[in-house]
Amino acid sequence: MDFSSTQDYMSRIKRTIISADEIKNRINDAGKFIDSIYDGRPVLLVSILKGSFIFLADLARTVSVPCEIDFMAAKSYYESTDSSGVVQITMDLRHDVSGYHVIMVEDIIDTGRTLTDVLNLLKARKPLSLHVVTLLDKPERRIVPLKADLSLFTIPDLFVIGYGLDYGEYYRNLPYIAEFGD
Ligand code: IMP
Ligand code: MG
Repeated sequence: MDFSSTQDYMSRIKRTIISADEIKNRINDAGKFIDSIYDGRPVLLVSILKGSFIFLADLARTVSVPCEIDFMAAKSYYESTDSSGVVQITMDLRHDVSGYHVIMVEDIIDTGRTLTDVLNLLKARKPLSLHVVTLLDKPERRIVPLKADLSLFTIPDLFVIGYGLDYGEYYRNLPYIAEFGD
């Protein structure tokens, strides 16, 4: 994607949907929730790259239970705002998840296809338990029925950017979540 100037780039950020402060407050609550559930048992935080890397980094710093971190990459969106419906595991975990309490840390659940596929794959590897924490949830868009154990924000059917979420790989570094407009 080409931008004629920084002003052009910034002008596509339509409006803030969730501020940096709101995100911070909810993540602190999520950290307490995780601590209360696992109560000292070690957990493995699994992040699906790249969208959830910022959420994982902030969430990990709010939990007190012993925790390890691992990454995997799956792709279901390409350069457009429409789901391609194709889910591909492009990078697998380094950990053998059997023997771990696994928490999937997701940026957003949209159609639910990506996460459903990834969860099925992980379940087959027999983790001690498997839970899902998502920053954002767009329930109106669901194609595959799927509910997170903890969802920090429910949003309407909008294409959002920032705080890890991209449009054509841009805008991941915004500290807040905004609606994207062409
Ligand atoms: P799903 O398989 O349709 O649930 O898609 C999940 C993935 O699509 C997320 O992990 C995001 O990478 C991407 N995605 C879905 N909605 C948005 C959005 O509003 N902005 C940016 N990326 C999105
Ligand atoms: Mg993406």
